[in-house]
Amino acid sequence: MGIRLGIIGFGYMGHWHLKNAPRVENVKVVAAYDIDKTKVEEARSIGLRGYDTLEEFLKDEEVNLVLVATPNDVHCELACAAMNAGKNVISEKPVAMSLAEVDKMIRTSEENHVLFTVHQNRRWDKDYRIVREVIESGELGRIYSIQSRLHGARGAMFGWRAEPEHGGGMIYDWGVHFIDQILWMLGYDSVKSVFCKTEKVKTPEVEDYFYLLMDLKNGAHVQMEIGTWVLKQLPRWMVLGDKGTLYINDFTRNGGIISVDETVEEEVIPVMTTSGPTRTFAPRGKKEIVEKELPDTPADLTEYYANLRDAIDGKAELIVKPCQVRRVFEVLEAMFKSAETGEQIKM
Ligand SMILES: NC(=O)c1ccc[n+]([C@@H]2O[C@H](COP(=O)([O-])OP(=O)(O)OC[C@H]3O[C@@H](n4cnc5c(N)ncnc54)[C@H](O)[C@@H]3O)[C@@H](O)[C@H]2O)c1
Repeated sequence: MGIRLGIIGFGYMGHWHLKNAPRVENVKVVAAYDIDKTKVEEARSIGLRGYDTLEEFLKDEEVNLVLVATPNDVHCELACAAMNAGKNVISEKPVAMSLAEVDKMIRTSEENHVLFTVHQNRRWDKDYRIVREVIESGELGRIYSIQSRLHGARGAMFGWRAEPEHGGGMIYDWGVHFIDQILWMLGYDSVKSVFCKTEKVKTPEVEDYFYLLMDLKNGAHVQMEIGTWVLKQLPRWMVLGDKGTLYINDFTRNGGIISVDETVEEEVIPVMTTSGPTRTFAPRGKKEIVEKELPDTPADLTEYYANLRDAIDGKAELIVKPCQVRRVFEVLEAMFKSAETGEQIKM
């Protein structure tokens, strides 16, 4: 059967899916609906069936999967309307604006026996796939700290992302991706507690910076920091283990794994600071340090659409499952609560 996709919200991401979904065999975009008439006209001009109303769009019998790619505040109502019309649904991230909305969406999919998933595409980021592979290999030894960061320098968030009523803010915009990455890698039951600080540095009404400290049940912790106004950027990832350190600078394979050759011993040359010497923080000698290239882990986003097609055809289990999305949302809600109360939230 394959996918005959209808897009609600023919903006930036709508166009992105238009380009990327058909890269997979038997996936076609056939229709679009938007509240902006110029977007509907544009859809018609490129051969799609463009609809001026949601009701007409949902009556399109060829559409068997609806993508909701609107601002966040209307994901729930549009996804539920589509599911109540018998359509399978992908919602863009963040799936909704509250855990109650997520539960309503999951209930609606179950009641209508339709598939429901979320576009958690950052599970297919190259940097993330490498981190996952290296952590799973055990090469770093006992991992005590995982640091996932994104530092930008552009300041204020733009458009509806700066507006709370549309679900703006950095926790919903990028936090949701990075929490999803951590939970998919470490397990949905891995988090013990959450402590979060937020700042509105350049965006007056929503947080454009957050710092998150997540204690894990295995004794390790995750530090996550995302900000749009950090003018000296630190690596995207640092993973600290008792056998080695992994770093990745950006969204690519640009990084390495550093370990120490214990068979080589060089003289410790203390570092002199203005107020005294330190041996503990003297750098390692060049011969002691071993730096290895990162593995070239494959990362192919077409797997996302192929999985959806096969799940709709009853041939595969969904990769992005509603119960996973729900757990991510529990963590997001704990982050908001912690930021508001200044307290650590137990999970
Ligand atoms: N997964 C990712 O990597 C990623 C990247 C960017 C954005 N997103 C998500 O995609 C969604 C859309 O973001 P965008 O950047 O494309 O926004 P956008 O502003 O470019 O596009 C949104 C479109 O939705 C339309 N719209 C608004 N309200 C509507 C309604 N009630 N019914 C129908 N259409 C409506 C607008 O007219 C616009 O064309 C957001 O949820 C965002 O968080 C995801």
